[in-house]
Amino acid sequence: MLLKGKRALVMGVANQRSIAWGIASAFHREGAELAFTYQNDRLKENLDELLDAVGGRNAFPTFPCDVQNDEHVRAVFEGLRDRWGRLDAVAHCIAFANRDDLSRPFHEISRSGYALALDISAYSLIAVARGAASLMGDGGGSIFTLTYNAVERVVPGYNVMAVAKAALETEVRYLASELGPGQVRVNAISAGPIKTLAGSAVKGLTKLRDLTEQTAPMRRNVTQEDVGDVAVFLASDLSRAVTGNVIFVDSGFHLMGIAQES
Ligand SMILES: NC(=O)c1ccc[n+]([C@@H]2O[C@H](COP(=O)([O-])OP(=O)(O)OC[C@H]3O[C@@H](n4cnc5c(N)ncnc54)[C@H](O)[C@@H]3O)[C@@H](O)[C@H]2O)c1
Repeated sequence: MLLKGKRALVMGVANQRSIAWGIASAFHREGAELAFTYQNDRLKENLDELLDAVGGRNAFPTFPCDVQNDEHVRAVFEGLRDRWGRLDAVAHCIAFANRDDLSRPFHEISRSGYALALDISAYSLIAVARGAASLMGDGGGSIFTLTYNAVERVVPGYNVMAVAKAALETEVRYLASELGPGQVRVNAISAGPIKTLAGSAVKGLTKLRDLTEQTAPMRRNVTQEDVGDVAVFLASDLSRAVTGNVIFVDSGFHLMGIAQES
């Protein structure tokens, strides 16, 4: 029960395969009180069905939140202030890019597609951190996001999302620096490739998974549960002095300069 007494907001459950659902399940197992946001009504149905399997949809506050809408974001944290008064952790598991801007050559990324991907996948962390930190009070809290290791290295097919993740990782460091005096920690988990709705928009995901299995130091892919357990660490007091980090949950794949098969 590492999260007993903690109140956590999970953003980004689209379905059972979502990394956010892996995180929510791990948080639930560890005794956290949970609230959720959903992007739209269609995804709310998925979320409600998932919540019914773990105690009933009415046991969890849920809020509509399209992160492109400032009013939605503001209403989430107002709602949590009314309902809980404070917040201990936020899991930001949100990203989007047009398929076209993932699949066309990098030098043909459109201006509008670039702005869209950066707005949803990177700016949203700033807006969320602003709302969350205002509810974290004297005790502070933990905010974390999800990134992918296509920032330092080129992963064909990741294109515009690589730029968004670079911005996101930079935000983690600036937010960590600024919110640190209030004991608010900000980190990112860099997950290996996982089959999800967003993951399947990346051309070559299956190849990336094969490569991980064949060449990562641990010779295996990672799961939503692997990410969920690291998220528990980040939301818990065990990580009380950890901020501004990108923690890799990728079987060590990021270490390798040259693939070594066996
Ligand atoms: N799947 C992978 O291989 C992988 C690897 C590393 C990092 N990540 C990151 O993990 C996070 C979660 O993705 P996932 O793989 O679980 O896929 P997913 O499709 O299950 O989750 C993506 C979520 O983003 C939400 N979203 C998109 N646009 C939004 C908007 N305008 N407002 C609010 N929410 C919006 C969707 O509703 C969805 O819930 C993303 O940041 C993704 O980049 C994924």
